[in-house]
Amino acid sequence: MPLGSEPMTITGHTTVLGVISDPVAHVRAPQVFNPLFEAGGIDAVLVPVHVTPDGLSTAIAGLKATLNYRGLAVTIPHKVALAKLCDTLGDNGRRVGAVNAVRFDMAQDGTRHMVGDMFDGMGYVAGVAAGGFDFAGKRVLQIGAGGAGMAIAFAVADAGATHITIANRTPAKAMQLAERIAAEFPSLEARGVGADTDPAGYDVILNATSLGLKPEDPLPFDLDRATPGCVISEIIMIPERTRLLDAAEARGHPIHFGRPMLEHQAKLMMQFFGFEAA
Ligand code: ATR
Repeated sequence: MPLGSEPMTITGHTTVLGVISDPVAHVRAPQVFNPLFEAGGIDAVLVPVHVTPDGLSTAIAGLKATLNYRGLAVTIPHKVALAKLCDTLGDNGRRVGAVNAVRFDMAQDGTRHMVGDMFDGMGYVAGVAAGGFDFAGKRVLQIGAGGAGMAIAFAVADAGATHITIANRTPAKAMQLAERIAAEFPSLEARGVGADTDPAGYDVILNATSLGLKPEDPLPFDLDRATPGCVISEIIMIPERTRLLDAAEARGHPIHFGRPMLEHQAKLMMQFFGFEAA
C-alpha cells in the first residue's frame, strides 16, 4: 500500500459482495472492484466465493438470506446456471442465457429477489466506443462463439452493426448463435460459418476465441486476406498486445485492445449493484 493511503476498514456497516467461481484463485474481480470502492469512498468490499456447481443452489439460497450481501460477480462455470436461478433477468442476460452479475433486491413482500444480467458484451462495445469506434452500420466478422462470444455478438448487434458473420472452430455453435441473433434483430444479416472463413470484405474483425492467450497460438484468421483499413479487435486482456494485434498494426490496420472491456464492464456493473462508478 502506498504511504499515506488509508487501508479499507471493514465494519458492521460495510456492504459485502462476492465473486462466485470454481476454481477461485485466478479471479480478478477483487482487484478490480475494491480499488473502485476505495477511490469512490464507498463502504463496500468484494471477496472471492468458492462454490462448486453441486453446491450452487445451496450457496445462493444462503447468500440471498444474508441481508448485508448486495450481490455477486459471476464467472466460470456458473454464468449459465445462475441465469436459471434468477428471479428476474435483464434484457441482455435473458437474450444471452447467461449472467455475469447478480444482485439481491428486497421485494415488496420482504423476500429477497435475485436479479441477474450480462455485461461482458456491453463492456466490450463500450470499450471499443471509448477508443473512438462505432459499430453502427458496420459489417463485422466475429471469430469465436463461446461464452464471451455469445454476449459480444448480441452487444455488437445492439450497437447497430448491419451484418455479422460468426465463425467458429465448432461450426454448429456459430450457426446457433447466428440464428439467435437473427431472431432477435430481424433487420440485421447474421450467418454462422466454420473457422476457415474468408476474412475479406469486413469493416471489423473481432477475435472472441482464446487463441492468442499463449504466445505459440496461431493467428485466429488469415490476416493477409483482411480488407485494408479493416479494424482488428481483440478480447484477450493478458497479454494486452497479442500477436494478432501486433501483426495487424504492422500492416496498418486500426486496432483495439481487450483490456478496456474489463474497465468499462466494471463501471456498468457498479451501476447495476447500485453504486455510482468512481
Ligand atoms: P470464453 O468464455 O472465454 O468465450 P469458451 O466458452 O471456452 O471461453 O470459448 C472459447 C472460444 O475459443 C470458442 O469459440 C472456441 O471454439 P470451440 O467453440 O470450437 O471450442 C475457441 N477456441 C478455443 N481454442 C481454439 C483453437 N485452438 N482453435 C480455434 N478456436 C478455439
